[in-house]
Amino acid sequence: MDHHLNRRQFLLASGAGLAGMVPPQAAAEPRDVIIDTDPGVDDAFALLLALRSPELRIRAVTVVAGNVPAPVGLGNALRMVEIGGRPDIPVALGAIKPLVRRLVLAYYAHGENGLGGLDFPEAKVKLVAEPATELIRRIVRQRPGQVSLITLGPLTNIALALRSDPELARMIPRLVLMGGSLSGGNVTPAAEFNIYVDPEAAHIVFHAGIPLVMVGLDVTRKAVLRDEHARALEAGQDAVSGAAARLARNGIERAQRLGWGPGPAMHDPLAVATFLDPTLVTLRPYFVDVETAGELTAGQTVAYRSGPVRGSAPPDGSPLSEVRSEAVQPNIEVAVDVDAARFFQMFVTRLSGKAASL
Ligand code: RIB
Ligand code: CA
Repeated sequence: MDHHLNRRQFLLASGAGLAGMVPPQAAAEPRDVIIDTDPGVDDAFALLLALRSPELRIRAVTVVAGNVPAPVGLGNALRMVEIGGRPDIPVALGAIKPLVRRLVLAYYAHGENGLGGLDFPEAKVKLVAEPATELIRRIVRQRPGQVSLITLGPLTNIALALRSDPELARMIPRLVLMGGSLSGGNVTPAAEFNIYVDPEAAHIVFHAGIPLVMVGLDVTRKAVLRDEHARALEAGQDAVSGAAARLARNGIERAQRLGWGPGPAMHDPLAVATFLDPTLVTLRPYFVDVETAGELTAGQTVAYRSGPVRGSAPPDGSPLSEVRSEAVQPNIEVAVDVDAARFFQMFVTRLSGKAASL
């Protein structure tokens, strides 16, 4: 079954459906997703966007260490599902560190509380006892071929779930990840943060055979939140728009104070938006591998549009008599361009709850 909504269905499901002008039953069947996240400011926006998207049936939110320690991210994920009016969505704690590396945090970008230092009341809703990888495994196996993943942080939880149950990969119809870059990193010149934190986990996921869509820095750097978006969010009248407006105003102020530019890039929300409407981006098939041995480049997503795929020069004493060389077999759809205006139209319309004229 083709899960993509055609343009009319998408418009019915998103704008008009939200405004209540079209009965929701006119929309297509919602798609089951699990969102794996390390909230994080842009993760918080992404969770709120997903919670305001009737096309999604969010079966679980799983938390991974990344921007902040996993317990801090857990508290923020619980806050967002409560603000979004969905305390029924199971939120589970996942990996507290990468597979084989020390955890590198991103306090510089998200603050020690993961929400840019903004104070949001602690959620009343509690986590579920089931560990994240068990919850992912159980939900995917309940409806093989029907539950997609949207990942917004390091891929540790997904790699652990795949390692615990190797058959899982063929039951996952799509995985849209925020991560990677074909145009240079944001932690090192080579590596984007989510892949940098756990390159080994990313390597497992990139080679698992799951239909992958990579929403990397190549497009997310073009989705910069600006004052006009914050003003549109401030025109909203409910808890979601209020939280989004606070996060937006604070994020813009921090970005300008830290010299990053006019505002923060909406990395994770663009991954959610791409799952909702892939026509927002231009996708191209690539073979992408993940560097795990580099002293300076670990976490780099090394991409080939055409072949041959080559390894590094063999060291003295290597059993290899020549450079490893294979034909390219694409393993991922990479977003290489984005209609940023259309993305923010969706972002602001849904988070503010009002039709936005940006
Ligand atoms: O490089 C950006 C990514 O790293 C985003 O997901 C952000 O939240 C951080 O996790
Ligand atoms: Ca994130």
